[in-house]
Amino acid sequence: MENAGMKRGIVIEDDWPGFSLDLFTSPEHYHGDIHSVYIPHGVIMDRVERLARYVMQDFGSGLTVLCVLKGGYKFCADLVEFIEVLGRNSNKYLETRVEFIRLKSYLNDQSTEELHIIGSRDLSFLRGKSVLIVEAIVDTGKTMKALLKHVETFQPQMVKVAGLLVKRVPNMAENLTDYVGFEIPNRFVVGYALDYNEYFRDLNHICVISETGKLKYKV
Ligand code: HPA
Ligand code: MG
Repeated sequence: MENAGMKRGIVIEDDWPGFSLDLFTSPEHYHGDIHSVYIPHGVIMDRVERLARYVMQDFGSGLTVLCVLKGGYKFCADLVEFIEVLGRNSNKYLETRVEFIRLKSYLNDQSTEELHIIGSRDLSFLRGKSVLIVEAIVDTGKTMKALLKHVETFQPQMVKVAGLLVKRVPNMAENLTDYVGFEIPNRFVVGYALDYNEYFRDLNHICVISETGKLKYKV
């Protein structure tokens, strides 16, 4: 029962409108381009702190984090930081190594079919390790499935997946994510390192992009 919140995370319902922009702060130059603050930065941080506890419970003494760039960099940095804080304040310390992999699968707000691994495909450092894949967003699961298959070829001892956001998409395969921050409707969100054609990564909150924003930064 204790880990009941792990598999779905905090569920955000389809009719959640988000918070009005003027209740928080955000960069002035994005004001016309975002619709609402969907998940405020403070809530993200509180949830990531809780995910760190789950990870701490499940992993033994060592942890190899595989951060999926670029979208995962803030989530990864904050998650690892919380894990380290927990280690300093308890008698269990998880020795943590962080590695990076860069994937690209989106153009505008559409998923492209193939998995593009940019940079080194050689992950032989994962052999025999307890691995935590840290990904900002999991939707169709296609990318994650392909990545898991790739990771497995290097024979890690165990692999778990942390996803800050999991989208409720039609005919989603089984949920591949072990630690879910938030389950959200199938909407395109930006901020907290999530981008729309490389824009909006510098927003601290997770926000919903407006039609104006989509047009303005379309490629
Ligand atoms: N936002 C940003 N990047 C993404 C999303 C999203 O909603 N879904 C998949 N990649
Ligand atoms: Mg992207």
